[in-house]
Amino acid sequence: MAALTWNDALALQQPRMDDTHREFVDLLNAVEVALQGESLPLEQALDRFVQHTEAHFAQEDDWMRRVGFAAQNCHSLQHAQVLELVREVHRRLRDEADVEVVHALVPALAEWFPMHAQSMDAGLVQSMQEAGFDPETGALQHPLPAEAEALAGCGSGRGG
Ligand SMILES: [Fe+2]
Ligand SMILES: [Fe+2]
Repeated sequence: MAALTWNDALALQQPRMDDTHREFVDLLNAVEVALQGESLPLEQALDRFVQHTEAHFAQEDDWMRRVGFAAQNCHSLQHAQVLELVREVHRRLRDEADVEVVHALVPALAEWFPMHAQSMDAGLVQSMQEAGFDPETGALQHPLPAEAEALAGCGSGRGG
């Protein structure tokens, strides 16, 4: 069974983010399938997942900066923590042939992702809409006033 299945509850009505999240789900499932020895070599599948996750989080972190989130905001910090874990699992697979850590990682991420998407990513989409930010063009219609500069809250947009 797939570790995580795409469903409507994961769609946040932000096309770029939703596409990236569908790819996240697909690549996580590819790691799961590789663990069963049914497709790509495991290291290759995990490699793809790590590279995609780096780009996925970097994209959202960039959008947060553009709409006015503080650099040390809670959403970005969670990305950094998850990425550190994923990279450590990648290193242990590569250097120590530790497959067990990958077995533990996949269900943990499958549980983490829907919570993250429905709270922090949904909050980011809301802030992007409020700011009139178009990620395709970089246009920002309603720059935030200076006093609203630090959007450091977790998950529910401004100050949440
Ligand atoms: Fe995301
Ligand atoms: Fe995120």
